[in-house]
This record gives sequence, C-alpha cells and structure tokens, in this order.
Amino acid sequence: MIQALQKYVILDKVIERCNDVVVKRLGENKHTEASIALESFNNGGKRLRPALLVLSAMAPNGGDIGDPDATLLDLAGAVELIHLATLFHDDVIDDVDHRRKKQSARLKYGNYASVLTGDYALAEALELVQRSGHPEVMPEFIRALRVLVRGESLEMQHKYDYNLNEAEYSDIISEKSASLFALSCKVGAMCKSPEFADTMGNFGWNLGMAFQMIDDLDDMLDNPNKSYDCDLRNGYLSLPMIRVFGNLRNAHREELIQMIEAADFSPKNERFIVSLCMEYRGIEYAHERIVGQLTKASQSLERFSEGQAHDLLRNVVSDLTTYADNQVDNFTRFLAEPAA
Ligand code: FPP
Ligand code: MG
Repeated sequence: MIQALQKYVILDKVIERCNDVVVKRLGENKHTEASIALESFNNGGKRLRPALLVLSAMAPNGGDIGDPDATLLDLAGAVELIHLATLFHDDVIDDVDHRRKKQSARLKYGNYASVLTGDYALAEALELVQRSGHPEVMPEFIRALRVLVRGESLEMQHKYDYNLNEAEYSDIISEKSASLFALSCKVGAMCKSPEFADTMGNFGWNLGMAFQMIDDLDDMLDNPNKSYDCDLRNGYLSLPMIRVFGNLRNAHREELIQMIEAADFSPKNERFIVSLCMEYRGIEYAHERIVGQLTKASQSLERFSEGQAHDLLRNVVSDLTTYADNQVDNFTRFLAEPAA
C-alpha cells in the first residue's frame, strides 16, 4: 500500500476523534470479531477516506476544519469501517499475508474469522450511518456497497485475462475502489453543502481512480517498491501490463504468460517485465492517466474559495502527483541498476 501522503498535523484532532468513534463502537462488543476488528483498526491505516469526508464537508464553504460535529464524525467512522470490512474480505480473496505491516487477520486467525470480521465491521458501519441523523445518505451507502461488491467480482472474473482492456480495467478500479472515495466526498458535502455533493463526489472519484492506479503500480511486482504483495502473483493486470499485452505479438508473449502463471518473479524475470513495460511505454502511459485524473480532481476544487479544508484537499492531490512522479523514476532507476 502506498505511503504517498504527508502527515497533516492540522488533521490530527479530527482523525483522533474519528478513531474514538470507531474504537468505542467496536469496543462495545466483546465477541471475537469485534476484538479482531479493533486489533486491525489499531494496526494503522492512513484514515484517508474519513479525512476526505470531513474535508469535503468543509471545503465548499471555504471554511476552517474547526471541530466537526458528531454526525460528521459518525459518517467518517462509517467509511473507515467499510474500508476495513473490504480489506478483511479482500485479504481472503487475494491470499494476502500482511496488512498494515502486520500479519493479516486471515493469516493470524483464519479465513473464516477474516470474513466474519468483515461482515461485523460492515454492520457497525451501517449502525453509525443510521445514527448519524442524515437519513438521506443511506441510499448513497447502499449504492456504494453494491458497486464495491461488483467491482471486486469483476476483478475476479478477469484474473489471468491477458486480453483485459483499458476500459475493463477502469471499470474494475472505479467500482472496487474509486466508488468509496466518491462516497466519502459526496456524503461529506451532502451534510454541509448539499448543492456541491456531485462536485465533491466527482472530486473523490477522480482522486480514487488515481489512488488505485498508483497502488496498482506499486503492487505490480515484488521488487521495485518492496511492496508486500504482488498483483501479478494473483493474475491481476494493471495499466502497464495491459499495454504490454495489447502490443506484444512475438514469442515474448508466451514467455511472459508462462512467468505469470508459474508466479516466477525472479529478479531476472522482474527486469524482463519492467523492460517490456518501458519498451511499450506502459509506465509512462499509466503516469499520464494518473496525472489526468488528478488534474480533473483539482479542477473540481477550483470553484471553491480558499480555506483550510480546501488547501488540505489540494495538498492531497499534490502529494499523490509527487508520489506518481517518483514512481516513474523508481522504475527507470530499477532498470538502470546493474542486474543482481
Ligand atoms: C483492495 O484492493 C480492495 C478493495 C479496494 C475493494 C475490496 C472489495 C470487496 C472485498 C467487496 C466488497 C466488500 C464489502 C465488505 C462491502 P487491492 O487488492 O488492489 O489492494 P491492496 O493492495 O490493499 O491489497
Ligand atoms: Mg484485491
């Protein structure tokens, strides 16, 4: 998972209060799933979605972050719990051993415990939505949950699909990931400036698309960014690989497929894969698309006047832009280094 975002001290108090909401909810139950959920929640995480929700509520009015009211914090807690729930399930689906630099719950407690903990976290999220006093946001949550499931399912359907195209890839990341960013931003705005709900929803969606493309670049291989998981090991193709498979017509195609199916990502093979991505301008192209989504995200903010929340959202966009620029350099440097 990417470490793209600076720590914004100014947000600390808000995040702390959102953490308190979640910890209190999870702590009220003493059963196994509640304690696994709490353990994983306390293992870290950027709390990006709750922060976006609160900032999206404040940004349209040019206001300061101040002290968000309890209803906003409940909804912020809800989006973080949904995120957590999806991770418990995703770790089972992807066979992931590490999450937040610790053993994943599925490795530590078993797949069944991870699935049930995800179900439980989802129930607590819905409880927070219900008690938030904003009944108008519930249909948005329900819609987003449906879309998340569809996105993950679509991704599964395209495992080891070497003919996956860019439009299909975009649908997958839009549904499994950008949808929750869109929900967070839209719901925040709905509570304070409903006339800007769609604008903030679009902002969140564009940011989420960029975020997932960046995450996919990080997770493409084992080596270049020392990531914990490698999407190719699961047969998931991201933009550079789609570009490579779309163009590769010679024996290299079979060679590449064999490597992926044998999950043989030796240093030599990783160099081979990265060099193909470079040759077919796959990394460059992914970077262009990331910058394109981030530019659209910035444009959504242009209509709002200056303010603390607005500034922070712009900083999030610019942190992701810097991180994406560095990713391109990392891949270039990786190839320039002498082979091991
Ligand atoms: C992480 O992506 C996973 C998601 C963004 C979505 C997972 C969605 C589901 C499991 C379906 C919906 C579930 C619920 C509870 C509503 P990734 O595997 O690319 O990221 P990673 O690098 O963090 O593993
Ligand atoms: Mg996954």
